[in-house]
Amino acid sequence: MQIKYANYVISNTDVNKCPHHNLPEYAFIGRSNVGKSSLINMLTNRKDLAKTSSKPGKTLLINHFIINNEWYLVDLPGYGYAQAGKTQREKLRKMIESYALLRQELTCMFVLIDSRIEPQQIDLDFMQFLGENEIPFAMIFTKADKLSNEKLNNNIEAYNQKMLEQWEELPQQFITSSTTRKGAEEVLNYIESINKEMTI
Ligand code: GTP
Ligand code: MG
Repeated sequence: MQIKYANYVISNTDVNKCPHHNLPEYAFIGRSNVGKSSLINMLTNRKDLAKTSSKPGKTLLINHFIINNEWYLVDLPGYGYAQAGKTQREKLRKMIESYALLRQELTCMFVLIDSRIEPQQIDLDFMQFLGENEIPFAMIFTKADKLSNEKLNNNIEAYNQKMLEQWEELPQQFITSSTTRKGAEEVLNYIESINKEMTI
């Protein structure tokens, strides 16, 4: 898919205030600092569409972007940032969970996982929560440029072993790097294929 048009629409703290529309909507979620906003900029080929930072806790709102006038993309705050303080963490957790549960427009969630580290309970729990609530999701392993191919493959293999303790089948997965653009085409083609199915 070619990105001809990518524009910021609005930011909200409350899922009930998010814009209503009849288009497919894809949201990016994961632990704080995993690379959600960077991935959105990479996919859309816009350097500063979504705000990024080397410090965790940058995105604190539900941010809507419209792409090609055909679908919406949503940048969500990260979960589980330890230094954020309990009240802030709880507020973000509620924002993310209510978005996932209540957002009727939501077509698919992309759960971002840092490819460099071992499976984190918070990510496994979040995917479990999505599964229990029948919310469609795919996994994206991020920051693939930061490790060798061998290490990358080993980590993903180990991750999938862990997943299979909980899941009968693995979800759709992508391996990406926002610096090398690895995986961009695959993610965009996946979105395009779902969009096409929805218009049939
Ligand atoms: P929050 O909004 O705080 O939840 O974080 P986020 O998940 O949106 O992360 P963000 O995109 O702001 O990126 C966090 C840091 O990781 C930044 O310093 C990015 O430059 C870096 N980063 C993100 N993706 C990649 C990647 O694919 N490769 C490398 N090398 N760095 C990355
Ligand atoms: Mg962010």
